[in-house]
Amino acid sequence: MDDINKLIYFDNAASTPLLDEITSEILPYLRSHYGNPSSLHRLGRESFQAIEKARTRVASLIGSKKKEIIFTSGGTEANNLAIKGITNRLNRLNPKRKCVITSSIEHESVLGTVKDLEKNGFNVRFVPTTLNGQIEPECLKKTIPSNEVALVSVMLSNNEVGTLQPVKELAAITHHYGGLFHTDAVQAIGKIPVDVKQLDVDLLSMSSHKIHGPKGVGALYLKRGLMLDPIVSGGGQESDFRSGTENVHGIVGFGKACEIASSRLEESRALLIALRDYLIFHVLDKIPDSRVNCSTENRIPNIAHFTFFGVQGEDLVNKLDEHGIAASTGSACSSKHQKPSHVLKAMGFSYAEVTGSLRLSMSILNTKGEIDRAIPILAEIVADLRSRSPFAKSK
Ligand SMILES: Cc1ncc(COP(=O)(O)O)c(C=O)c1O
Repeated sequence: MDDINKLIYFDNAASTPLLDEITSEILPYLRSHYGNPSSLHRLGRESFQAIEKARTRVASLIGSKKKEIIFTSGGTEANNLAIKGITNRLNRLNPKRKCVITSSIEHESVLGTVKDLEKNGFNVRFVPTTLNGQIEPECLKKTIPSNEVALVSVMLSNNEVGTLQPVKELAAITHHYGGLFHTDAVQAIGKIPVDVKQLDVDLLSMSSHKIHGPKGVGALYLKRGLMLDPIVSGGGQESDFRSGTENVHGIVGFGKACEIASSRLEESRALLIALRDYLIFHVLDKIPDSRVNCSTENRIPNIAHFTFFGVQGEDLVNKLDEHGIAASTGSACSSKHQKPSHVLKAMGFSYAEVTGSLRLSMSILNTKGEIDRAIPILAEIVADLRSRSPFAKSK
């Protein structure tokens, strides 16, 4: 039975609630197991062993070896470390490799990083996206220069519209031209099977709080044999790739989140697809002039992205919040700045399509009952906002 007074949380692409099993595993590392993992005494050794156990669990979720995992403070740092670390190193060894390619629908942590590289003399190119939010391998072939490409970075799943990119094909093209390939898999891990060997990527970024783990922790997969220049100097933790005393409780929680995600992957995927499709069907059925964006194929199971013509997405989010429903217009990091989504603009959406958008993202904790409760509220809010909007007719 759903508790009708409970908040309905449909913003799981921004962050997810911590699972009780994960909290229980973290608590001892906040209370009694406080040793520094670099210390030689028993408490230190216990923390070190806890990190290594978590490393094995993270590696197992993506089919990598334990030694290929570098813990970071989250997806943002993993993206920075991957892109800056690799390009700086490659460029030091071969100054001709100055080209970095990414897509225009990446997360801000990738776009900001390549902007920094551009200021330092790198040649940054963007692969365009289709109206469906897809990066086509043919477009990468046209963008990539031979002998000059250092790195291509294209996300596995987009955080606003949920589209999956053909990373395996994009990585193969990149390797053909002599570059390395990085993917931001923050939204994809734990939702779909992700195997670094099968995708043949060189670097892959992850974050804990999108899969019911704690915030402020993530990891970078770095293929064995590759080296990168660290972006933080210090005590040489994480095999010299990421200095700083490890966030032991965060890493333990992330490890547990990966273990749970691995063991329930198929079950969770089926549940999320069922919830998402139920949501989409009923939204389109009950709310006129609404549209679901991007095809239902090639997408992660938990994100549904809509446009409600004639309303402002932000007004919608605020009104839903007043009714106890948490939703988002899109990217978690830019939504407070109230700027139009760079992803939707890059996909070629019109002003009305961009401003009228709403992202509803599910987790395994959501239920059909919550969807049944939310849809009449959403329908009423949309109708009310339209009745007051001068743009109500604009498409
Ligand atoms: C695709 C993607 N990459 C990177 C990040 C950043 O991850 P973190 O919040 O762990 O820094 C996010 C977070 O929203 C994301 O959705």
